Amino acid sequence: MPSYTVTVFSKWSKTRLDQTPLIPQIHLMVKSTHSFSCSICGASHKKWTGRCDACGEWNSVQEQEPLAAGPGTKTLGATKGCKITLSDLQTEDKPLLRAKCGMDELDRVLGGGLVPASAILVGGDPGIGKSTLLLQATAKFALAGKKAIYVSGEEAASQIRMRAQRLDLSHSPVQVASESNLRDILTTLDTERPDLVVIDSIQTMWIDHIDSAPGSVSQVRAVAHELTTFAKRKGIAVILVGHVTKEGQIAGPRIVEHMVDTVLYFEGERGHQFRILRAVKNRFGPADEIGVFEMTGSGLKEVLNPSALFLSDREKPAPGSVVFAGVEGTRPLLIEIQALVAQSSLANARRAVVGWDSQRLSMILAVLESRCGVSFSGMDVYLNIAGGMRISEPAADLAVAAALISARQGTSLPAHLVTFGEISLSGGLRPISQAEARLKEAKKLGFRDAFAPSRMKLASTSGMNVKKVEDVGAFIANCFGDLQA
Ligand code: TYD
Ligand code: MG
Repeated sequence: MPSYTVTVFSKWSKTRLDQTPLIPQIHLMVKSTHSFSCSICGASHKKWTGRCDACGEWNSVQEQEPLAAGPGTKTLGATKGCKITLSDLQTEDKPLLRAKCGMDELDRVLGGGLVPASAILVGGDPGIGKSTLLLQATAKFALAGKKAIYVSGEEAASQIRMRAQRLDLSHSPVQVASESNLRDILTTLDTERPDLVVIDSIQTMWIDHIDSAPGSVSQVRAVAHELTTFAKRKGIAVILVGHVTKEGQIAGPRIVEHMVDTVLYFEGERGHQFRILRAVKNRFGPADEIGVFEMTGSGLKEVLNPSALFLSDREKPAPGSVVFAGVEGTRPLLIEIQALVAQSSLANARRAVVGWDSQRLSMILAVLESRCGVSFSGMDVYLNIAGGMRISEPAADLAVAAALISARQGTSLPAHLVTFGEISLSGGLRPISQAEARLKEAKKLGFRDAFAPSRMKLASTSGMNVKKVEDVGAFIANCFGDLQA
């Protein structure tokens, strides 16, 4: 039963005295204590609307039961309240010990191992290898002496066992279950008390007191809430697998990402065997950290030296190919950037990008055109990050500009050259972070020369021959000499 607050107040009539007697009029104002909120972004609304004003999503606004509603409502002071233990924290609680699973790439992305009582959400396209990765990780944790349970709502126990055999994990003491009723799962976990539980996937789990299908917004939100609360209360680390939408975001309400401690995305290009596990949120470690894996016939293998791998297929120096010394999280990574520039037969020349931001490509093309007089009009431009990598660092700007000009001119840059630097709209080069780590990685892989922004102070060059340039114009003059129009 909804509850209502009834406010009664009186007001003198404003009508003319000669028409109506001067009597007080009584108005009844009924105020509903119900509220509405968006299940995607969490914005609250005074009344129901078909479309959330805050995030623009349709049909996402739902009625919320007020916390103080219902027959069991107690007045303030009648409940036992919550315990405040701030001063105890230093004395009583032991520091949280991270558990390493032995898969270095996974441990690194988690910020140095799995934190007890944490909740982790792993998202990724279907078939990218989430179940494979997490079954391998759970098995490794079990082998390392931790109690680990893998719960699948998608596969039967026999199918999980078959996959474990294929991954050569049959000897691991990992426990597996095929179940999707959350009440049953939590009851089992409460008696088993594992260190780690994997729930594959959150969209297949359901709670019986919610009247909607598994995977619906209210089910996903309730399942995530139950599991994260359970993780905190019982000290169990919970890894949730989440499906992604067409747009590449984790399906279901966005607030699930707020509820958990860590959000990881497992990504990779179709047709490439490399998979990248990327931390986009991490309360216990650096975000943007990546782990690189390779999908093989017998599961995922870690790639401990990804730079060597991304460059291993590199052919002889070719026009349009430039090596970018990047950093992903805390790890330096050398990545090949490829560009192709060709005369266009279309009215609107084509701009195609794989692995980089297309808006950023337009910006670099505009800077090259207006600041350096290098025009790409009437030319199709293709840009590709080799190996299925995706770069979001602005430090790759200079390498992209170098690849574009090299492709346009048909001249190749020396094979032992790396570049990095962010390009500003004025054509100047902005300093970037962790230059020393980038140079060290380049030296390790046999590179000798580097171009870097001149305003940067370098503590060490790691034996690399670093040429500092003020702006893109100076870089072009240094590398390509006078350009043909
Ligand atoms: P899976 O882990 O089921 O993906 P997800 O859970 O993200 O949907 O991975 C399925 C894909 O991985 C499938 O296309 C086959 C491939 N695969 C291998 O190449 N080698 C293997 O050893 C395994 C187990 C899967
Ligand atoms: Mg799966």
